[in-house]
Amino acid sequence: MSKIGNAIAVAGANFALVKYWGKRNDALNLPAVGSISITVDSLITKTSVAFKENGSGDSLTMNGELATGSMLARVSRFLDWVREMAGMKLSAVVKTENSFPTGAGLASSASGFAALALAASRAAGLALSPRELSILARQGSGSAARSVFGGFVEMRRGSRDDGRDAVAAELASPAHWPLSVVVAVTGLKPKDVGSRDGMTHSRETSPFYDTWVAGADKDLPQCRGAILERDFDKLADVSEFNCLKMHAVAMASRPGILYWNDTTVALIHEARRMRKDGIPVFFTVDAGPQVKFICLPEAAPQVKKRLAGWPGVKDLIECAVGKGVREWLGEGR
Ligand code: PMV
Repeated sequence: MSKIGNAIAVAGANFALVKYWGKRNDALNLPAVGSISITVDSLITKTSVAFKENGSGDSLTMNGELATGSMLARVSRFLDWVREMAGMKLSAVVKTENSFPTGAGLASSASGFAALALAASRAAGLALSPRELSILARQGSGSAARSVFGGFVEMRRGSRDDGRDAVAAELASPAHWPLSVVVAVTGLKPKDVGSRDGMTHSRETSPFYDTWVAGADKDLPQCRGAILERDFDKLADVSEFNCLKMHAVAMASRPGILYWNDTTVALIHEARRMRKDGIPVFFTVDAGPQVKFICLPEAAPQVKKRLAGWPGVKDLIECAVGKGVREWLGEGR
């Protein structure tokens, strides 16, 4: 084991094409379904962790503000797993910055816990394999297991009770299919119902939940095949189907969970109009109101032009398929 000290890591957010919604074990944070996502390059979390000899409890600074309450508790619990693995008890100073709005359905927990897993484990003197990092990140947030890897990533549901097989792996590299994603930001407030509570509520009350879980076994091979064959129409078909199905499960919960606003709905229609007009683009929406337009790179300027000035669109962020989590060794390295 190397020296305990500090480390900095960066990770990109990811957008699910076949979505994770539901847990088979709440305590271990094990998914009820597998999922497939794209890791992106422009929505980045950068996290530093320093373990201190004389610290009195962990501290967390998020985007320049000291965090307390449930956010700090969640990070401290995560650090406990790292401390346990490293066999030490030192407190940590954690500082994290997002290049994008936090908690608004832009996958900040995915990039956040992937970056924290790498920074904390390195700072604790551990050299975890990507697989071990993915298992660790999953305990913070299910989707974070995917942000450990770049390109197109598949997260396995796994069947073991201890969750050692609920892990992500790269399906295809960023170079395999350089798609673009244009993110239309339509709301900046943190969401009312977080994905953790939303999933539990759906499992407990949505009449569509069991059908949703059973359907993943059909969607996953279709999505995997579309990516490996670079078949855009097939990817558009399975991704839009899976996205609307996930939201249908959430909406049919009691009381229903509706992550969309007026602009989200208008943009879903616009994505379909664009495709009718011959533009290779499709939409996906996670647990929030933002719409992600996934397109062939040559179509990105047209997509942005169609969305520019759209009432209710607060920002357009263009992303390419990005790399997995990595240690930050300084600018340009
Ligand atoms: O990883 P969590 O707990 O933030 O859940 C992610 C849920 C979705 O973003 C809606 C779907 C997904 O697979 O990322």
